[in-house]
Amino acid sequence: MEWEASDRCNLAGCENDRPSPRALEAIQRPTSPMLTDHWDPQDSVLRSTLGRQHGVPADQVFLTSGAMGAIRYSFEVFGNQSDRIGLLSPDWPGFRFFAERSRRQVTWLEHHDFPFHFTIDEVAKFVNDNGVDFTVVSNPSAVTGKLWSREDIDALLQECPRTMFVIDEADAIYPTLSVSSLVNHHDNVLVLGSFSKFYGLSGLRIGYLICPAQYSWAFENTIDVIELTSLAIVAAREALCDTEYQQQTQREVAGNLERLTTAAATSNYQLVPGSQCFAAYLYGGEHVPDPLIVLADKGIDLVPAKWFGLPRGGRLNLRNPGSIDRLISALDVAS
Ligand SMILES: Cc1ncc(COP(=O)(O)O)c(C=O)c1O
Repeated sequence: MEWEASDRCNLAGCENDRPSPRALEAIQRPTSPMLTDHWDPQDSVLRSTLGRQHGVPADQVFLTSGAMGAIRYSFEVFGNQSDRIGLLSPDWPGFRFFAERSRRQVTWLEHHDFPFHFTIDEVAKFVNDNGVDFTVVSNPSAVTGKLWSREDIDALLQECPRTMFVIDEADAIYPTLSVSSLVNHHDNVLVLGSFSKFYGLSGLRIGYLICPAQYSWAFENTIDVIELTSLAIVAAREALCDTEYQQQTQREVAGNLERLTTAAATSNYQLVPGSQCFAAYLYGGEHVPDPLIVLADKGIDLVPAKWFGLPRGGRLNLRNPGSIDRLISALDVAS
């Protein structure tokens, strides 16, 4: 059956498709200075609110144009000076772009079998055995939604003291599980965050980077002095304080994950267990038709496996209850 573009169910994005009502309200009536002035992109209100939330001093928090900007600055300050960069596969495909652009040697740790999860011991061994001095990893995984705990990351930083780790928390939806405060105890870690996903502001391009105290000067001198727009700052201040909106997002995502897990258990397919964000990965072994293709025929789009270097299946976004209902109905018919 042919689907009109508007009939298709897009589960391929990984953003929050609902904005915070408070953020939306705050940008309804822009004042003249919001449009005409350059704003201080390192807004002190936002930095101190993020600092309080993550248990770090405000001057170790830097605002950037999305997590993407934070990744770029991490490479500018550390990655481009490294001898060897280490990346995981599968992981967020954007890291490859920055690593290759740095013209450094890139070494890969691959895990292409279901459930595509790396243990902390595997990562530590990879980094130490290969002399990796800079690595960036998503946590939660932008592919499967799985999350290493604070204890896991703490152990990794201790086991690999000569490696700079960038922990990209862009996909996180549980701020209390952030590992950011490890910058108070280790000097080999940067933690990145985004307002695109959990806080629903992907169109405004705002994120942040949290660093150990001794590197604040380096980021102060590297981040663009006109990095952000007024609208992004005003909306982010509100979204960050909109706890009702945040809790509703967390409740709906947890409910969607539970319903989808139950449905997948009686289908031909497997869901990577334990997602802790919007991202989840649906897989089918070689003995069943690829769920990516079966679902595309039913008008449901996932991020294709090949984006992550994987052979089958695809990533889906757990945010929207209506879209997950449609996926569950399609799985019923497909099994
Ligand atoms: C792991 C990861 N890092 C960075 C980004 C980019 O996020 P932002 O929109 O904040 O630049 C994404 C978004 O897809 C992501 O999943």
